[in-house]
Amino acid sequence: MRLDKLLSDMQVGTRSEIKKYIKAGLVTVNGGAASPQLKVGPEDTVTFRGKEISHRPLEYFMLYKPGDCVTARRDNFHKSVMDFIEDGRKDLSPVGRLDLDTTGLLLITNDGKLAHALLSPKKHVKKLYEARVKGRVTQEDVLKFESGVDIGDDTLTKPAQLNILQAGEESLVQISITEGRYHQVKRMFLAVGKEVLTLKRLAMGELALDESLAPGECRRLTEEEVAILKKSEEVLC
Ligand code: URA
Repeated sequence: MRLDKLLSDMQVGTRSEIKKYIKAGLVTVNGGAASPQLKVGPEDTVTFRGKEISHRPLEYFMLYKPGDCVTARRDNFHKSVMDFIEDGRKDLSPVGRLDLDTTGLLLITNDGKLAHALLSPKKHVKKLYEARVKGRVTQEDVLKFESGVDIGDDTLTKPAQLNILQAGEESLVQISITEGRYHQVKRMFLAVGKEVLTLKRLAMGELALDESLAPGECRRLTEEEVAILKKSEEVLC
């Protein structure tokens, strides 16, 4: 891997900062000076400001989060999403939070930079959910969600796309939001007088939940999926 890519993956700085650090001699490879294009591998010792930079690879997992499991590192009462990941991994974190009873796509990674970008409201990355809702969801709700609803915060919610799949005493909908406010989807439906009965995340950016996974199953993202995720973050900013 190129030295500048390794330093960027390890979040030492932006590409241009890294270039400056290398030029200023703050980065060494095996005790000597280096250039941004230099190829480095796990056998090389890379330091920044005298501290060794590890070659920890960036890893990405997709978990089909089951219900009754918390999006936290550990919990005294419930299973944690981290219980579904390989043992002893302290460097991985879930990307954002899903409620205890929300199921579906949860990313888990040690790529803090990507996680931050995917969650930043400025990047407008879409999160797509499927919800079963008590009561008849109407076109009026679609329009309200499009123009933003008051869920009791300082500002209205950003425009959300609501797609009614079935409407009746109980409705089935898909909803796409670009923010991640606390209990956002549930509060948006409450704001129009309806209750979310079940909620499942189907996609984040262009990355869809692999429906061949069973709830509680987890797998590594493929290289293509990682590229798709990174594109969601870049294109939509
Ligand atoms: N909106 C919610 O209300 N809950 C979630 O878990 C995610 C989005």
